[in-house]
This record gives sequence, structure tokens and C-alpha cells, in this order.
Amino acid sequence: MSKRSSTAAELTVAGAIARSELILTCGPGGVGKTTTAAALGVAAARAGRRTVVVTVDPARRLADALGLEAGAAADEPHKVAGVTKRSTDGELFALMLDAEQTFDRLVRDQAGSRKQADAILNNPVYQAISGSLSGAQEYMAIERLHQLHTSGDWDLVIVDTPPSRHAIDLLDAPDRLVGFLSHPVYRALTVGQRTFAKITDAASSMFLWAVKRLAGPQIVEDTVQFFRSLANIEGGLRDRAKEVSKLLRSDATAFIVVSSPRSEAVGEAEHLLDAIDEKHFPLAGVVVNLIHPLPEPLGEAVEAELADMGEGPLVDHLEWHRELTRLAEAERSQIAELERLSGHAELIELPLLDVDIHDIPGLVGLSDRLVDPADRRGEAH
Ligand SMILES: Nc1ncnc2c1ncn2[C@@H]1O[C@H](COP(=O)(O)OP(=O)(O)OP(=O)(O)O)[C@@H](O)[C@H]1O
Ligand SMILES: [Mg+2]
Repeated sequence: MSKRSSTAAELTVAGAIARSELILTCGPGGVGKTTTAAALGVAAARAGRRTVVVTVDPARRLADALGLEAGAAADEPHKVAGVTKRSTDGELFALMLDAEQTFDRLVRDQAGSRKQADAILNNPVYQAISGSLSGAQEYMAIERLHQLHTSGDWDLVIVDTPPSRHAIDLLDAPDRLVGFLSHPVYRALTVGQRTFAKITDAASSMFLWAVKRLAGPQIVEDTVQFFRSLANIEGGLRDRAKEVSKLLRSDATAFIVVSSPRSEAVGEAEHLLDAIDEKHFPLAGVVVNLIHPLPEPLGEAVEAELADMGEGPLVDHLEWHRELTRLAEAERSQIAELERLSGHAELIELPLLDVDIHDIPGLVGLSDRLVDPADRRGEAH
């Protein structure tokens, strides 16, 4: 792939922390998206901004540090203690994404009346599928971002994204919702009662036949009722998906791609960067996390001496040193590839630390490296 042409060359990670209204961290699984999102939140709060971080399934100890015990209220913003101390500081809040709660809130917002909303929310079919709709988690992360952004309560909303097999799903989520609403089966199910009786459309009758066989006639009735009641809010859902799609491409938004320097992760990051470029989402930077340090060379004399020693702990040490050097060198070439792929966007390297980052001081350390290049220099090399 050729070096991408940046549409917003001036956008950097530090700039996003200081000025953006929305930041999304995305990338392959297990590379540190949630940790990075939390560290960006710490940096923004310490830069004076009222910030909220929406996390998805944070590691247990990080959730504890952010004050997010699992439970009903975790999906509302909680203030994170111990992040800000100076009078010029802002505040950091965190919440855990709850796809079902977000969907419920969306339905209530869009429904014309409480009765209409209840008809959807109490429908057994809705209850069965709301948590497991394909792409629902991805869409809900974006929907929650929109809810928080339009509330006017926050200077900056940071959204961590779910570990999806293809991180790209996230970017397509709003368009996919619109696609779902245009699907022939959905369309057939939402037409009026009379027309419905006459429907000969093969796809929808097959679908209903299958549902009836598997689950019985009551479920068919519930399914039809569900899709009909959903039709009342369809216009609202479509508009919302379009609005979100526009917001994600606006100057207020910054995407940060997180990757590790492993080839599988870099391959996935490449697809994601391509999609971001192609769909014109604003990219603020690429964070390469979990980088092994490059060991100091032992020097020829020491190597020769160790090689003459035969077996023993020092020789094991030499072998280990060589292994680590090979690994670190392989990572350097993956980092160079990521640098090429990120084009004009900033590339930030973060070392693999000895300990998990699960407390506020750990996040503060990481946030300093994200905002201040001087803190990064030399660390990962
Ligand atoms: N630079 C680092 N050094 C050491 N440990 C790290 C570093 N960055 C993240 N970790 C640890 O790696 C683990 C995975 O991080 P995290 O949960 O942020 O990844 P993720 O990309 O959000 O994962 P998932 O795709 O499962 O959501 C956590 O235990 C975290 O503490
Ligand atoms: Mg995560």
C-alpha cells in the first residue's frame, strides 16, 4: 500500500487530547486499547478538560482503579478518584459500556411515547436479541458516544472499542444499521396487517416458517409485532445512524489506532488504517504498544568468552540475550512497517512495562508518554 495522504496533517495525539471532542481508540485484540483510552482520559483531565471515558470490558484491576464495579450503575459516568489535584485540572469520569442499556435508551429516545417504547422493550423477541444483534456492541459503543457528546456535559468523550475479530466492524456499524432496516425480510415484516397476509415474498415466508417450526406460533406473532413496533422508530434510527456517521468524520473527532509490534496485529492494523483512510475518518495517530526493549549488545569479546565456556547459567543467559535481541529486532521491522502505514499521522511507541497497568499512577505514567515526546524518547529503544 502506498503512503497514505493525510487529510488532517496537523492532528496529533497531544492535539486531540487538548482540543478534540471525541476520541476513539481502536485496533486488534489485546494490544492495550482500553489501557490507552484510560491513559488518554487521565492526560485530558490533567490538561483541564472535563472528560469521560467509555470503556468496554476493562481488565478487572483497571476497572477497580476506575471505580467501575460490575453492577447496574456502572453504565453511568462515575468520577475517578486520584487523577487530578491542581486547581487547573479538569475531571475524569469513567463508565462501562452496557450494550443492552444503551439500546434501551436509544429506543426510549426515539419512541414517540412511553407506550410505544414499552411495546418494543417488553417484547420477548427484543429481549432475546438486543444483546446479541450482530454488530450491536460496536454500534452501541458509537451510540453511547453520541449520547454523551450531545448531552453537553463533557469537553471530551473517549470511547474504547470492543475487541472485535475485525476492528473494522466498528466503522461500518452505523451504515449496517441502515442496511438492516432496508433488508427485505425486515421490510416484509413491517408492512401493514392486510398486505402482510398476502405476502408471497420467499425470503420472509421462509424466515417465518423457520421461526414457527423452531419456536412455535406465539414467537412468530411476537416477532411480527416486534418488527412492526420497531417500524415506528425506524425514521429516528436511520437519522441517528446518519448523524453518528457524520459526527465520526467531523473535525471534532480523532481516531487513534493502537497496535502491538506483532505481525498479526500489524496486519489487522493495516486493514483498519486503510478503512479509516478510505472512509475519511480523521486519524490522530498510531500507538505501538507493548514494545520489548532492544538489549544492549554484549560485545564480541564477551560473546567469544561466553561461547568458550560450554554449558552453564552464563551460556543460558547468552542464549536468552540472543533470543530477546532477535525478538526486539523483529519488532523494530514491524514498527517500521507501521510507520510506513501511518503515513503523515504521528506514531507513538510505548514500551512493554514490567507490570500490568492497573492503577492511577500507572495510567499517569503512560499518559505522560502519550502527550510529551521527551518522555517517550529512548524508552522503547
Ligand atoms: N505497555 C504495557 N505494558 C505492560 N502491560 C500492558 C501495557 N499496555 C497494556 N498492558 C496490559 O495488557 C493487558 C491488555 O490490555 P487492554 O485490556 O488495555 O487491551 P485491549 O486492547 O483493550 O484488549 P481487548 O481487545 O481484549 O479489549 C492488560 O492487562 C494491561 O494492563
Ligand atoms: Mg479492551
